[in-house]
Order: sequence, then structure tokens, then C-alpha cells
Amino acid sequence: MVLNADAISQQSLPKHVAIIMDGNGRWAQARKRPRAYGHKKGVDSVRSAVQFCSKLGIESLTLFAFSSENWRRPEDEVSTLMELFLFVLSKEVKKLHKNNVKLNIIGDISRFPSSLQDKVHDAHALTCKNTGLQLNIAANYGGRWDIINAAQTLAEKVKVGELQVTDITEEALTNNMSMADQSPLDLLIRTGGDYRISNFLLWQAAYAELYFTETLWPDFNEEAFSEAIACYISRERRFGCTGEQIKQLLAESNTTS
Ligand code: IPE
Ligand code: IPE
Ligand code: MG
Repeated sequence: MVLNADAISQQSLPKHVAIIMDGNGRWAQARKRPRAYGHKKGVDSVRSAVQFCSKLGIESLTLFAFSSENWRRPEDEVSTLMELFLFVLSKEVKKLHKNNVKLNIIGDISRFPSSLQDKVHDAHALTCKNTGLQLNIAANYGGRWDIINAAQTLAEKVKVGELQVTDITEEALTNNMSMADQSPLDLLIRTGGDYRISNFLLWQAAYAELYFTETLWPDFNEEAFSEAIACYISRERRFGCTGEQIKQLLAESNTTS
């Protein structure tokens, strides 16, 4: 089943989807090819996921491209990933810009080669005024890093007397975390058959729906993405309330809108 934007109400779609794009290495190994081959094929899936989200009118798509733990991989795999990242940024950004996509990198890019950091800044500057899909690429990102970063920002403000200790609230932390300006995360997808978060959006995923699929990332096409969205739509999100309370709220909002 391929979802059609007109066939489902915009209201029921997730506003913010994040994906742990896992399984590139196994996809290549199954074809007796080097892991790098899987990473290259994975770029096609990224392109298709971006197009799919643009078409559906999803507000934000956040992709886990490189975790803060991925530095532990063999040196040649890390440099292949860096080169691929650089290549994609050079080659794809103009097209993203033409499609009104706003590109944002989340994570600590200070450890990246300076050529890559420059490309990231250029891509951000070029697309920052776009009003279409917000595409966040998580690079050298870790959920714990994000929380620590927000805590340090607030601690600095306490130190200079701008804030009180009691001002360190859930809201204050949220506002100082990556993607604070975007809709809360609705749906977190992991491809590749593992059931873990691997230090991705720990804070932001607090109330996200989790969707795990065996499909390896290079095979994650429009149809597979549609299934994830359909599964999300079929679930009832209660945010700690009872199902009855949610139905009541929905009935009230339908009569007032
Ligand atoms: C995900 O695929 C891509 C990155 C982590 C960069 P993997 O490289 O983890 O592939 P598997 O999990 O080993 O198959
Ligand atoms: C998660 O995949 C990170 C990315 C997709 C970038 P990993 O393959 O690194 O995760 P683990 O090691 O299986 O937890
Ligand atoms: Mg993996």
C-alpha cells in the first residue's frame, strides 16, 4: 500500500518523523560486497524518504546518519562515511534548495574535517529561509550529548545570575535541546531489525510512537515508509490519559472547529 496525501487527513499524519537508518553493512554483506557499498545504496533511500515526506507534507524529518559512538568503527569505514557525507552535501544541496527543503545538522560537528564543517555551514545558509520540509541530519549526535549540552547552557545562566536553580524545568531543558523550534517527535522508526534507540533522541522521544522493522535501510522504500505511517495512524496516542478522555477531547475539538 502506498499512501496518498489526499486519501488521508493531514491531521492524522505525524508532524515529525525520525529514523535510525540501520542495516547498510548487512545489506552489502548479504551481497558479498564491502560495507561501503551498503552506505552508498543507503543514500538512495535517504533521497526517497525526503521526497516521500515532502510529498505528504510532513513538517520535519530527522535522520540518524552518524552517532557519537560510530567513531569506534574501523578508521576506513569512518572516513568512507565522511567522504560520502561530503559528496552528498556537495551534490544534493542545490536540489534540496530547489525543493524548498530547509536543511539543519544536529550534533557536534566540531570533530568533523573542516571541509565538511564548511559545507554544513554553506548548506544551512543557503536553505535556512526555505519553508518546506525541515530536514535534520543527526551527525556526531548523541541523545546524552544533547541533554548535557542543554544542562550546561542553563547552568551557565545560573552561574551569571540570569536564572535561578528552580528555573531549570522540563520546559527550559526542552527549549535548549536540538530541534526546540520544531514540532515534538511523533514517530521514531528503526530499520534493520534491532529493538533499541542507540543513544538517538532520548529526550525528544519521550512520547513518540516507536516503529521497528526488519527491512534493512537500503531496502526502505516508499512502500515500507507508507507502512510505518499507516501503523502510526492506526495507533491511539494517550499521553498518559485514558482512551475515553482522548475521545472526549477529540469530540470537543470537532465541535469547536
Ligand atoms: C547504519 O548501517 C549506518 C550507520 C551507522 C552509519 P550500519 O553500518 O550500522 O549497518 P549494519 O547495522 O552493520 O548492518
Ligand atoms: C545507529 O546504528 C546509528 C545510526 C544509524 C547512525 P548503529 O549500527 O551504530 O547502532 P548499534 O551499534 O547497533 O546500537
Ligand atoms: Mg548498525
